[in-house]
Amino acid sequence: MSIISIANHKGGVGKTTTAVNLAAGLARSGNRTLVLDLDPQANASFSLGLKKQEKTIYNVLGFDEDVRKVVHQGETLDIIPASIHLAAFEKNNEVGKEFILMEAMQEISDEYDFIIIDCPPSLGALTISALTASDYAIIALQPEYLALQGMTEFIKILRTVKTRMNQKLELLGMVITQFDGRKVLHRDIVEHARQTYGEMIFDAKIRNNVALAEAQSMGQDVFSYDKNCNGAKDYQLLTDEVVARTHELVTQ
Ligand SMILES: Nc1ncnc2c1ncn2[C@@H]1O[C@H](COP(=O)(O)OP(=O)(O)OP(=O)(O)O)[C@@H](O)[C@H]1O
Ligand SMILES: [Mg+2]
Repeated sequence: MSIISIANHKGGVGKTTTAVNLAAGLARSGNRTLVLDLDPQANASFSLGLKKQEKTIYNVLGFDEDVRKVVHQGETLDIIPASIHLAAFEKNNEVGKEFILMEAMQEISDEYDFIIIDCPPSLGALTISALTASDYAIIALQPEYLALQGMTEFIKILRTVKTRMNQKLELLGMVITQFDGRKVLHRDIVEHARQTYGEMIFDAKIRNNVALAEAQSMGQDVFSYDKNCNGAKDYQLLTDEVVARTHELVTQ
C-alpha cells in the first residue's frame, strides 16, 4: 500500500490532472485506489464528476469526523472531496495539526493499494500535512526554466518534512507535464532536468493534449473520455512506471 502526494507549490503545473489520471490508471489496472482532494479549489473533486459535497476532508481536519464518513465511493475510484473551507486549515494554530491527516490515512490505508493526494499550489499546512501522511511525493513539472529553479526550494521542504515529521517520505519522481516536443525550449529543459535530477525524471512525459482539459471539464478521467488520445497513452505509461517504482522500493 502506498500513499503518494502530487505536489508543487507552483500553480497550474498539472498536479490535479496528474492526480486524477494517475489514480484512474491505477484503478484500471486493478488497484484499490482513493483520490484525496486536499486543495480548497476542489478541482480534483470536480474533475471526477463530484458536485458540491456536504462532507469533505475539512470535516476530518477541522472537526474530528470519522474519515470513513467522508469517502465517496465511485464506480472505479473512491474519492475524498475538498471544499473551499479547507483554506481555514492553513490559518488555524492548533498544535500538531499537520499530523491529523496522517492519523486519518492510517485508519483507512488497509483498504487501498494506492492513495493519491492532490495538493494545493502552496507550501502551507495542507501540503505539509499531505507530505507528512505520504510514503512518496511526485512533483509535477512544466518545462520552463523558472519551474526548474523552484524545484530546489521544494526539494528542501521535502527534506525538512522527512527529517522532522515523516522519515519514510521519499521522492518517487518528477513528471514533466504539458510537454510540446516541437518546441526546442521544451526539449532543452527536459535535457537539463535529466542532467540535474537524473533518473528522478520519469521516462513518461505528459504531452500537451486538449483531451486532458476536455475530460476534466466533463468530470471524467482521460481513459473514460477517450482511451486512445495521447493524454491517455502518456498517463498509462506514467502509471506503469509508478507501479514499477513503488514495487522496486518495497522489495529492495
Ligand atoms: N498535458 C496537458 N495538456 C493540456 N492541458 C493540460 C495538461 N495538463 C494540464 N492541463 C490543463 O492545464 C490547466 C492546469 O492543470 P491542473 O489543474 O492539472 O494544474 P494544477 O497544478 O493542479 O493547478 P493548481 O496549482 O491551480 O492546482 C487545467 O486547465 C488543465 O486542464
Ligand atoms: Mg490543482
